[in-house]
Amino acid sequence: MIRTLVLGSGAFLPKTILTNADLAKRVDTSDEWIRERTGITERRVVAEGERTSDLATAAARAALEHAKVSVDDIDMVIVATTTPDETFPATATRVQAKLGMTRGAAFDVQAVCSGFIFGLSVADNFIRGGQARTILLIGAESMSRILDWTDRTTCVLFGDGAGAVVLQAGEGKGDNSDHGVLNTRIFSDGRMHDLLYVDGGPSATQTTGVLKMQGKEVFRHAVTNIAEAISASADAAGVAVADIDWFVPHQANQRILDGTARKLNIDPAKVISTVAVHGNTSAASVPLALETAVRDGRIKRGDLILLEAMGGGFTWGASLIRW
Ligand code: UT7
Repeated sequence: MIRTLVLGSGAFLPKTILTNADLAKRVDTSDEWIRERTGITERRVVAEGERTSDLATAAARAALEHAKVSVDDIDMVIVATTTPDETFPATATRVQAKLGMTRGAAFDVQAVCSGFIFGLSVADNFIRGGQARTILLIGAESMSRILDWTDRTTCVLFGDGAGAVVLQAGEGKGDNSDHGVLNTRIFSDGRMHDLLYVDGGPSATQTTGVLKMQGKEVFRHAVTNIAEAISASADAAGVAVADIDWFVPHQANQRILDGTARKLNIDPAKVISTVAVHGNTSAASVPLALETAVRDGRIKRGDLILLEAMGGGFTWGASLIRW
C-alpha cells in the first residue's frame, strides 16, 4: 500500500527575540509568573514588513534542502496558518510563487493551533489516494500580528515562526512496522468558539481582530482532548502508548505537556518541549518542535513518533509516524 513518508524537515524563526523581561515593560506581568504558569522564557516576533509567507518560504527551503528534493518535484503546497498575509489569496500561493514553482496546487488549511495536524491529514489522504506524489506541508504564523498587546492574559503566550516537512509517496506493507504516516486522527467541536477566537474577520467586522481566550477553560479541555487524540491514534495503529518513542506536542504551555503526560503515563523524557524558547506559535509549533528533535538527533530512523495538537474551534488531533 502507499504510505506517506517524511523525507525531510526545516524551520525558520524571525530574528527578533522578545523576552519575558521585555513584556514586563509593556504589561503588568513578570518573568516569574510567565515561567511558572507557562514554561515560556522567550519568543520570536516578526520584523516590520516580514510576512507569514516569508517565514513559510524560508522553512520550506530548509526542508527541501534537508530532504534533497527539488522544488520542481513538488505537486502541492499546503500552508497551515491562522495569520495569512492577506484575507485572500491563500498564503500557500505566495509561497509557491516565492519558491519559483510554476505547476501544482497550493492552498491553506485553517485549524488554528491544530493546523499542522489537519494539514498532515489532508496531505496523507492526497498521497494515499494517488492524487499527489510529493507535498510540501508548512505550518507558519505571525501570531504577534493578532495579539492585543495590552492584554497580559494572552500577549505573553504566543510567538512567530514556521516549520515545514517534505512528504512523498512510498511503499508499505500496511502494518505498523511501515515507515511513514501510520494514521492521522482529527476532531473539532464548534460549540467551543467563545473560549478561543479572534474578534474580527472580513464578514463579521471587516477588520482583522485580536485573539481572545479564556485560558483556564481552554487548559481544562486541552488535556482531555489531547489525551483522547493520542489514544485514538495509538489504538488505530494497534500500538500501546508506552511503545511510542517520542511525543511531539503542540507547544501551548509546559503544564499542558506535563498534565497530558501524567494522564497517559508517558515518560516526560519522551516529550519534546520547545515552548520555553518558541512560546505558542500555533500551527508552526508542531513542525518547529519536530525539526528541533530531528536536528539534534533525538528522533532517529525507525522511531515511532506521535504528533498532537489542540486549538481554537475547538480543533484537535494526532498523527502516528514511523520515522
Ligand atoms: O494553543 C491553543 C491552546 N491554548 C492553550 O492551551 C492555553 C491554555 N491556557 C493556559 O495556558 C493557562 O490557562 C494560562 C497560561 C493562559 C493562564 O494560566 P492559569 O494558571 O490558568 O492562570 P489564570 O488565568 O487562572 O490566572 C491566575 C491569575 C489571575 O489573577 P487573579 O484573578 O488570581 O488575581 C490573572 O489575572 O494570574 C493573573 N494573570 C497574570 N499575572 C501576571 C493572568 N495573566 C497574567 C500575566 N502576568 N501575564
